[in-house]
Amino acid sequence: MSFEQAWLNYTERTSCEGADRLQNIYADVQDELMRNSVRELQLGLEGMTGRQPVLREISCNGEGNGVHFVYQAGMRKESYHLYEKDGMVTIEASDSNGILYGTFALLRQIRTKDTIAGMDIAKAPDMPLRMLNHWDNMDGSIERGYSGESFFFVENEVVVDDRTVTYARLAASVGINAVVINNVNVKDAATWLITERYLGKVRELAELFAGYGIKLFLSLNYAAPVELGELESADPLDERVKDWWKKRMEIVFGEVPGFGGFLIKADSEGRPGPFTYGRTHADGANMLAEAAAPYGGLIIWRCFVYNCQQDWRDYKTDRARSGYDNFMGLDGTFLDNVILQIKNGPMDFQVREPVHPLFGGLTKTNQMLEVQIAQEYTGQQRHLCYLIPMFQEILKFRTYVKEENDTVSDIVSGKTFGQHNCGIAAVANTGNDENWTGHDMAAANFYGFGRLAFDTKLTAEEIAGEWIAMTYGRDGQVMETLTDLLMRSWPAYEKYTCPLGIGWMVNPNFHYGPSVDGYEYSRWGTYHRADHEGLGVDRSHDGTGYALLYREPNASVYDDRNKCPDELLLFFHHMPYTWKLRSGKTVIQHIYDTHFEGVEMVDEMVERFSKLQGKLPAGPYDRMMERFTHQKEHAREWRDQINAYFWRKSGISDEKEREFY
Ligand code: GCU
Repeated sequence: MSFEQAWLNYTERTSCEGADRLQNIYADVQDELMRNSVRELQLGLEGMTGRQPVLREISCNGEGNGVHFVYQAGMRKESYHLYEKDGMVTIEASDSNGILYGTFALLRQIRTKDTIAGMDIAKAPDMPLRMLNHWDNMDGSIERGYSGESFFFVENEVVVDDRTVTYARLAASVGINAVVINNVNVKDAATWLITERYLGKVRELAELFAGYGIKLFLSLNYAAPVELGELESADPLDERVKDWWKKRMEIVFGEVPGFGGFLIKADSEGRPGPFTYGRTHADGANMLAEAAAPYGGLIIWRCFVYNCQQDWRDYKTDRARSGYDNFMGLDGTFLDNVILQIKNGPMDFQVREPVHPLFGGLTKTNQMLEVQIAQEYTGQQRHLCYLIPMFQEILKFRTYVKEENDTVSDIVSGKTFGQHNCGIAAVANTGNDENWTGHDMAAANFYGFGRLAFDTKLTAEEIAGEWIAMTYGRDGQVMETLTDLLMRSWPAYEKYTCPLGIGWMVNPNFHYGPSVDGYEYSRWGTYHRADHEGLGVDRSHDGTGYALLYREPNASVYDDRNKCPDELLLFFHHMPYTWKLRSGKTVIQHIYDTHFEGVEMVDEMVERFSKLQGKLPAGPYDRMMERFTHQKEHAREWRDQINAYFWRKSGISDEKEREFY
C-alpha cells in the first residue's frame, strides 16, 4: 500500500448512499482545470464505488445519473455551489477553479458522510490568498525541514515529476491557490531562478500548478542585480536598478505566463535589503512592485525584521517591538500590489505568543498572516502538535482596529479594509518522505491549514475529523482516538515545554529539545531573564513598552500584571516565583505541575494510540508508534530539565514533593 496519496487515497469502497449512482460527468471541458476536475472525479469515484464515471457532452443534460459541471455567471471568484436533486449532482461555479473546489468537496462528502442526498453546499473561500511557503533550497535541503529532502529541487535543478502532480492535487484539494517553492533565504543557485538558466523549468512547473488553480511564486534575492554580477548597487532609488528590475520582470513574467510574483525577506537575519542604501522597506518594496505591476504581479514583503546582533545585557532593546517599529511608520506608503507578510506573533513561531501588534496597527496596508506548519519550535514533526486550534485562536483575536470586523481573520480576509490583496501563508511541512510530513499525523496540519484558510468557520475538531476520515476511513474508534490525540497535542506540548508564554528554552540553532539557557546570553534577543526571585520579560510601560503597542483595551490588559492572561504572563512581565496566578497557583507551582501534567497527557495519548494496532494500516501505525515512543521519552527530558532548573534557581520545593534531579 502506498501512502503517497495521503488524504486522497480512495482505496476503500464508500458506504455513502447515492455515490454509486454517479456514473456520468457532464462537462464542457475547456481548460486544464476542468480536465483535472473530471480526472479527479473519475479517480475518486472509481476508487470509492468501483466504477469510473464516463465523461459526456454537456448537451446530454439529463440523460442519466451523474455530476453536472455548470458555469454560472455572477458567482464569486473560486466559489462553488454543490447540490443534489433527484439523484443528480450539480456543481455550479463562475470559474473552473470553483468547479475544481466543488469536485473536491463532493469527493470529501462521499468519503466522510453517509449520504449525498439533499446535499446543498455553497462556499466561497474566506482568504483571497491561501498560500504555502516552502523553505526548500536548490541543493535539495530544506531549511527547518523535518520530512526528508526537497521534491522541488535536486542538485540545483528544478524537478517536475509525478510527485509534483500529487503535491499539486493535495494542495488544491484543500484549497491552496498559491505556492512559493524556494526558501526565503535566497542564496547561490536560487538567486538565478529568475534567469534564463531556470525559467524554462519554472514555466513547466507554473503550468502544472495552473491546472490545479495554484499560482507559482518565487522567493527573491533583494541584491540580485549585484549578485548576478550585473550592477554594482541594488539601491531602490537608483534609476539603473529600477530599469534592471523592469527588464527582469518583463523576462520572468513573459517566460512564465500566470506567474504570481515574489516573496521577499530583506534586511533580516543577514539578508540584503534597502537599509544598505539608507532606504526604507517601502522604497524597496515599491521599486519591485512598480516593475511587477504591468503583469499583475504581487510583491509579498516580510515583516520579520529585527536586530539579531543584540546584547543580552541590554534590557531596553526588544525584539518583539521590532516588526512594529520598522513598519508602522510606513503604513499607507506601499503600492497596492505590495502585501506585508506578518508572522502570527512578534517573535518566531513559539508554542505561545501574543498576536503580532501590526495586526490592528496597520490600517492602510495590505496584510498577510504567516504561520508555520513546519513544527520548528513545536516538536519538529517528531512530537505530535496539531496547530489548527492555535491558528483559530489567532484568527479570532480581536484587534479593536474597528468596532466590528476587527479580528485578525477579518483583516487578512479583506473584510476590515475592503482589501483584495491579502490572505494567509504557512511555512510548509512537506518533504520527500513517502508520507510527505515525517509524522503521519503532521499531515493534519497541512490538510487543516488549507481547509481553515478556505473556510475559517470550520472548527479544529471538524477539520481533524475530516482529515482522519479521508485518510483512514470512518471507523469509530479510529476517528475518536485520533481526534482526541490531535486535540490534546498542542496543550500537552505547551505544558511540558516553555511555561506561561516565555518561549525559547530550546537548543540553539536546531530548536529541538530543552536548553533553558540556550539562548539566554546570545545575540538573538530571546531571553527569559530568570534569577533566584523570578522570571519573565518586562514588556510593560516600565519595561520595553511593547504592551502599549496594542490598541485598547488590549494594551491595558497586557500592561497590567493583574489583568494579563496567565498563558502570556511571562511574555509581558517579570514575575516573582511566588506570584499567585489567576488559577490560584503560584508561578513556580504552575511550572512544576504543568510539566508533570504534560508528561501524563502524553503517556495517556500513547496508551490510547496503542489500542489502534490492527485498526490502522501497519506502515503508518508503526511509524507513528516509533514517534510517540520518542515523544514520551523526550517529554520527560523537557519536564526534568525545566523543573530541575527552576527548582535549583528558586530554591522553592514542590508542594507535592515529587522527585526532582
Ligand atoms: C526563523 C528560522 C529561520 C528562518 C527565519 C525566517 O528564525 O529559524 O530558519 O529563516 O525564521 O522566518 O526567515
